[in-house]
Amino acid sequence: MQTMQARLSEILQEAKTQLENSKTISETESIRIKYLGKKGQLTEILRSMGKLSPEDRKVLGQSANSVRKEIEELLEKKFDELKKIEKNLKLKLERIDVTEPGKKISLGTKHPITITIEEISRVFMSMGYSIAEGPEVETVFFNFDALNAAPNHPSRDLTDTFYISDEILLRTQTSPVQARTLLKETPPIKIISPGRCFRCDTPDATHSPMFHQVEGLLVDEGVSMADLKGTLDSFAKQLFGSDVKTKFRPHFFPFTEPSAEMDVSCFKCAGKGCRVCKGSGWIEILGCGMVHPNVLAVGGIDTERYTGFAFGMGVERIAMLKYGVEDIRLFFENDMRFIEQFK
Ligand code: DAH
Repeated sequence: MQTMQARLSEILQEAKTQLENSKTISETESIRIKYLGKKGQLTEILRSMGKLSPEDRKVLGQSANSVRKEIEELLEKKFDELKKIEKNLKLKLERIDVTEPGKKISLGTKHPITITIEEISRVFMSMGYSIAEGPEVETVFFNFDALNAAPNHPSRDLTDTFYISDEILLRTQTSPVQARTLLKETPPIKIISPGRCFRCDTPDATHSPMFHQVEGLLVDEGVSMADLKGTLDSFAKQLFGSDVKTKFRPHFFPFTEPSAEMDVSCFKCAGKGCRVCKGSGWIEILGCGMVHPNVLAVGGIDTERYTGFAFGMGVERIAMLKYGVEDIRLFFENDMRFIEQFK
């Protein structure tokens, strides 16, 4: 009995000192368990009181309960105190300094091909053209037949074109949008169509199996080769500078008659001859011509009343010339060091 009383005051003393030194909530919680928990030291004493006489049990019970109460009160005080400290610390840590400079948001850059398509589109839109779109997965009919391509035209070859089935392919040019537009709309028609094209080419400095073109089509009454030349000459001056000259060389395309390729005088050397124009002073930039009556007829257009011109250009080629890029593969490797130069 005496020793149990002594043990009780010992427990109280110990608990007091430990609580005084406790610095955290979890430490305090383990002190609570150590003394008041199911297997705690005080609980153990209360449990062992069964062996005592009823009188002793009463006296010791009272002492034990008052020790318990005291420890409980100390615990409560400690928990309150620690919670307050924790809260103040949290407030301090989470304080927002509104005068701190904001985090820098780094804006992405447009891809040089997108920039070039937008530049080309802006010129034609300023001349009243609107933008038409067509599918990248096309039918043989729109990619070849409707465009007057002869049955033995070389680009129809399995080795040149990605076929999905006998009738379906990845378009090799944006020209099928001409046929689609002619079927859908009635003259006057004035559209350009930028988009992705595909050909079975092994990648090298100037070839990529995926590339971009911008197609153009104008159909109206009384449209002549003079309109074509005027339009494309004005386009070249707006894109490459007002000093450039243009020249049209006869060429062949199945969907235009007559057909031509347009060259611009070299904007690097002003026609004197340099590396960019390979010494010739001229750079080829697009194909064009007067829309073949067979193509107009596919769209049900009255070929006695209407005529039109069309043109098509490679976006990568124009971007390479404009920005002095020497390898087409750079556009598709997505190396940010390359792309970020076009900010
Ligand atoms: N589709 C031609 C090609 O991929 C480019 C072209 C030439 C388009 C003449 C035209 C055009 O609309 O009239 O090489």
